[in-house]
Amino acid sequence: SASGRLFVVSNRVMQRGQTQAGGLAQAMLSLLESRGGTWVGWSGETARATALHAHDVDRIRYRTFDFDAAQFEGYYAGFANGCLWPLLHARIDLMRFRAGALKHYLQVNETFAAWLAAELRDDDTVWVHDYHLFPLAGMLRARGVRCRIGFFLHTPLPAARTLLHLPQHERTLGALAHYDLVGLQTPADASALRDYFATLPQVRRVDDDGAEFIDGHRCAVACFPIGIDVDALARLSEAAVDDADVRTVQDSLGDRHLLIGVDRLDYSKGLPQRLQAFGRLLARRPRMRRRATFLQIAPECRREVNEYRALSREVQRLVGDINGHHADASWTPVRYVNQGYPHAQLAGFYRIARVGVVTPLCDGMNLVAKEYLACQPAHDPGVLVLSRFAGAAVELADCALLVNPFDTDAVAAALARALDMPLAERRARWTTGMQRLRAGNIHQWRQDFLDALARTAG
Ligand code: G6P
Repeated sequence: SASGRLFVVSNRVMQRGQTQAGGLAQAMLSLLESRGGTWVGWSGETARATALHAHDVDRIRYRTFDFDAAQFEGYYAGFANGCLWPLLHARIDLMRFRAGALKHYLQVNETFAAWLAAELRDDDTVWVHDYHLFPLAGMLRARGVRCRIGFFLHTPLPAARTLLHLPQHERTLGALAHYDLVGLQTPADASALRDYFATLPQVRRVDDDGAEFIDGHRCAVACFPIGIDVDALARLSEAAVDDADVRTVQDSLGDRHLLIGVDRLDYSKGLPQRLQAFGRLLARRPRMRRRATFLQIAPECRREVNEYRALSREVQRLVGDINGHHADASWTPVRYVNQGYPHAQLAGFYRIARVGVVTPLCDGMNLVAKEYLACQPAHDPGVLVLSRFAGAAVELADCALLVNPFDTDAVAAALARALDMPLAERRARWTTGMQRLRAGNIHQWRQDFLDALARTAG
């Protein structure tokens, strides 16, 4: 497999011990810790002018950029999260295209490309992540870079006819064609990309393994469902039984079971629909009031984008409604928490929760679903209620109770079924799920991607 040095490029970089990172950053941290390499991305700061920070931690060379505030706003809030994110999650109604934001997006990509081009040797490998960086490979090739360049998309990809709504899509999405390999989360995502490539004028032919372009370049397209470090999480959750906060939560439940949701406060996660379903459960099945308390942890993010502020208010209102309707002096049905928790504590919360509620409207993979399972005690595992529209549903169909998050009654019924599920069925489902998680763990995932990239012509 890849022999030279590894360069990972992603907007968000992360150091061990940071909370509130998405799935991407967590997965890359564990890859770079074990294999070593350079991690290039945004510093987390804006400044008067573009500046580079170099910072080495063990085997990881962090090389991160500050951008000026206007440029960063256009690139991150404007184009990546105001335009591409809704498109990728099939919400063209929320897609806001501004030519100025696209300009900043391209400029930021040029900044990364210029720095990388000066560093890279022909036997290096570059692994680029996510929708912030679609055009990077094309910009590197234009600067004469010849090493292998792969891309992995952590989000879902909607049907080609949805993608075509993006103005000037050839300059951003279409630039994926310059990679040697594009990896996606699910077979459906991979086939959507092949269909999209088939619409491009410079395509020669598209087959099951990718696309060939008229300049002779081949872009391989394949699916690599991202996994987790199952054993590390299981250990973390065992250790968490001694955590004081986890104990306090457990003691506070009395005879009730805990249902848990953990999501960035994002409209793709289906939080209003989930709360409505929990409200419906309490309204229609009064005996469940004695059985259940719902903890929703939802750290806020991307406050620069209007839709996120609106969602925050909507969720606050719904939580208030449900608690007002159903609470009594000694019980609050929904505990709604905007703070983020370190992984070690989350693992403990997952472990004590009888039901993991993961009901996004649309999600690339969703690692919370996998982490929830990995944290369950083998002798008394909980139940995962999982949206059909999370990438994780492909692997976990036999383990989880699959739901359509738009069907409030059906989600309420699945929550009730999960709360009532007998131990034997819980064990059987959980065991199946764990087999899947072990087969597709995070080590396997990165090995599969890097091996496939090494097999490309480069
Ligand atoms: C998702 C995306 C990542 C992103 C993360 C957190 O997982 O795929 O690229 O880093 O969300 O979002 P943020 O905007 O805070 O980086």
